[in-house]
Amino acid sequence: MSSYVIEGGRRLLGECEVQGAKNSALPILAATLLCDGKCSVHNCPDILDVGATCDILRHLGCTAERNGHTVSVDSQGASGFEIPEPLMREMRSSVIFLGAILARNGRVRLSTPGGCEIGLRPIDLHLDAMKKMGAKISEEYGHIECSAHDGLHGTNITLSFPSVGATENIMIAGSTAKGITTVVNAAREPEISDLADFLNCCGARISGAGQGTLTIEGVKKLSGCEHTVIPDRIAAATYMAAAAATGGHVRIDNIIPAHLGPVIDLFEEAGCRITTDCKSVTVAAPKLLGSVKMIRTMPYPGFPTDIHSPIAAMLTKAKGTSVIIETIFENRFKYTGELVRFGAKLRVDGRMAVIEGVPVLHGARVITPDLRGGAALMIAGLAAEGETVITDIKHIERGYESPEKTISGLSGLMRRIDNDGSE
Ligand code: EPU
Repeated sequence: MSSYVIEGGRRLLGECEVQGAKNSALPILAATLLCDGKCSVHNCPDILDVGATCDILRHLGCTAERNGHTVSVDSQGASGFEIPEPLMREMRSSVIFLGAILARNGRVRLSTPGGCEIGLRPIDLHLDAMKKMGAKISEEYGHIECSAHDGLHGTNITLSFPSVGATENIMIAGSTAKGITTVVNAAREPEISDLADFLNCCGARISGAGQGTLTIEGVKKLSGCEHTVIPDRIAAATYMAAAAATGGHVRIDNIIPAHLGPVIDLFEEAGCRITTDCKSVTVAAPKLLGSVKMIRTMPYPGFPTDIHSPIAAMLTKAKGTSVIIETIFENRFKYTGELVRFGAKLRVDGRMAVIEGVPVLHGARVITPDLRGGAALMIAGLAAEGETVITDIKHIERGYESPEKTISGLSGLMRRIDNDGSE
């Protein structure tokens, strides 16, 4: 099993670039299935989830090639309509293929998606939307079959919760449906706007992305295009938290500061000096961070659920008590049990974590529970005195591109050890 070894207790200093957004790249790559012609998607991070998405595209009959950070997809002749269980289990966002395959082939068969175990993560909103757009759905023993042999049609959909994935599936399926689809209470995340920009570049007619009500005017077909994925705001916030937890001074380049609004406010509340320009954010951390009153995760533009775990790790050494309330996923505190091994003082009660800052953390041997929980362990390891070994790092590598290289570039000591012991 591969692992990271961290020699903690060193201030992070310098500059780093942030990768392209995982949560944009994945739905955009799924949407290429609908295009007639080749798509080149630039700034795709080199992470396991992008690899798994390309495997699904190939299984469906596309060619998908990676050249550096560009993934080129040609879906000509892709007639597959089934994603086998092992591929579905690789990641949660495999469910984004639902709308794309259904719209392309009039039929799709998949099993319940896998991914991080951070909650039940049902897909009822996705299925209800497809049903409203004319699909017939049958579910049996974890397998889902949808068909719409006469094609999908536009309709009005009001989401009971602004689900990111359901909004994406509707946008993709609605792009070539007959008529107009409106989505009320749509997700407003920047990754939704990025997907809309990609689809519009391919000839779709989507308006209102990022505003809560989306209108999708169906077109006959989509063509290929070139698109550059937006920067990863979650990875940016993770490196900000690593800088702050080590009392460091770091500039993070290739970001969109507007995507980090409530995150920047929180770092300021903890005593960091934050400066931004149009494409970067600089974190200058004090020797001792202050606690923060209360973080409540919310859909965008609220405080992102994906960032709460890195922030929790950062606050384990702050002066005073901080509280985090997780409102999006019901099981996102697994990492707290591992943080305790570093000497952190945390209590979890249902959806609330209470963190009492301690003066010192000590290196520990820990196991990655999920992607963002793994990021929290990296941060604790960097802030702790002595050696930390993090195992089961596959979860981290699903979403972060070579974090050991980014941290080393900031004078941190972090190595990746392969299964066979090689570096
Ligand atoms: N939900 C339902 N029914 C549905 C869909 C969602 O009850 O049909 C519930 C979920 O169980 C959850 C909440 O609604 O409690 C939010 O789920 P949402 O659909 O918005 O999330 P998602 O599409 O599954 C994406 C990101 C997540 C991120 C969330 C929230 C991708 C690939 N994943 O997940 O990212 O946390 O939106 O912003 O875009 C991560 O990157 O670590 C990650 C988990």
